[in-house]
Amino acid sequence: MPNSKWTTSNIPDQCDRTVIITGANSGIGFEAAKALAEKNAEVILAVRNQTKGDAAAANIQADFPKAKLEVRLLNLADLASVKSFAKQFTADYKQLYLLINNAGIMIPPYGKTVDGFESQFGTNHLGHFALTAQLFDLLKSTPESRIVNVSSSAHKMGKLNFDDLNWENSRYSAWKAYGDSKIANLYFTYELSRQIQVAGHDVMAVAAHPGLTASNLAKGAGMKFINTIFAQNGSMGALPTLMAATEPTAKSGDYFGPSGISEWRGYPKLVTSNKLSHDMDIAARLWKLSQELTGVKFEV
Ligand SMILES: NC(=O)c1ccc[n+]([C@@H]2O[C@H](COP(=O)([O-])OP(=O)(O)OC[C@H]3O[C@@H](n4cnc5c(N)ncnc54)[C@H](OP(=O)(O)O)[C@@H]3O)[C@@H](O)[C@H]2O)c1
Repeated sequence: MPNSKWTTSNIPDQCDRTVIITGANSGIGFEAAKALAEKNAEVILAVRNQTKGDAAAANIQADFPKAKLEVRLLNLADLASVKSFAKQFTADYKQLYLLINNAGIMIPPYGKTVDGFESQFGTNHLGHFALTAQLFDLLKSTPESRIVNVSSSAHKMGKLNFDDLNWENSRYSAWKAYGDSKIANLYFTYELSRQIQVAGHDVMAVAAHPGLTASNLAKGAGMKFINTIFAQNGSMGALPTLMAATEPTAKSGDYFGPSGISEWRGYPKLVTSNKLSHDMDIAARLWKLSQELTGVKFEV
């Protein structure tokens, strides 16, 4: 596995590969979409705002006129939207090589998704769980396909409280809820990877985190200051995701992040998530509960 200075020049040609990236209109998702389009993938920008999606696609097309791009509407905070996206995509496409579950929200004021889930857990985890489940048949039937879940170092703040996942009986901590949603991304990745291996499918489930990357994610004054001083730019921040998505030596269950101090910045490499994120009982419990909450059966 190459471990220093992995860049977009390491990405093999992605010709004939169809890729979905959630939240591709800005930040890391946008940079990943641009890099994969440059490598000839057909990129579906799955976004919640058509105007922003069209602008992002036009931006990429301006740099790469031959880019194959499509903008499709997907609101991860609304399970009906997730279902309709997956249904339409499955009707229109015969293969899906890569699904990048990138979209996310961070530390918003307390709120709920359309279906009544705490907004970060609902959007960052449950929305992507339901999306992946409903696209899995297509992924399964596409040789060497991959699912990349974008987590965060903030997973280290996460510890799921199964008695009150929607924070209805506890004082809301937006940071803790963000950490919960990001450790959920890892439980999902590792449990999915285990189940895929048992079933013997030709699908890989991997995770990545971008370190500290300047983006639209946190717009508060404190974060603006941190972004200006410490954060890397979006194209560097997208590299761990791109490495997870395309590196030929990657293995299912791998986790990629920046190689610098505290994994804040730098070229990507294989990293490890914390011990709690590897708890198989919690992962299995979350899987079962995610099916119940979303009403989506996920049989690998
Ligand atoms: N930036 C960092 O330092 C950092 C660190 C660790 C992890 N991450 C993770 O990296 C991922 C990408 O974040 P980013 O930094 O690139 O932030 P960003 O620029 O804010 O991008 C987030 C994307 O997610 C989309 N999104 C939010 N809610 C959505 C919903 N309900 N349905 C569909 N799309 C939705 C946003 O759409 P709109 O433009 O319409 O809002 C946007 O396109 C996230 O999962 C985040 O947790 C980022």
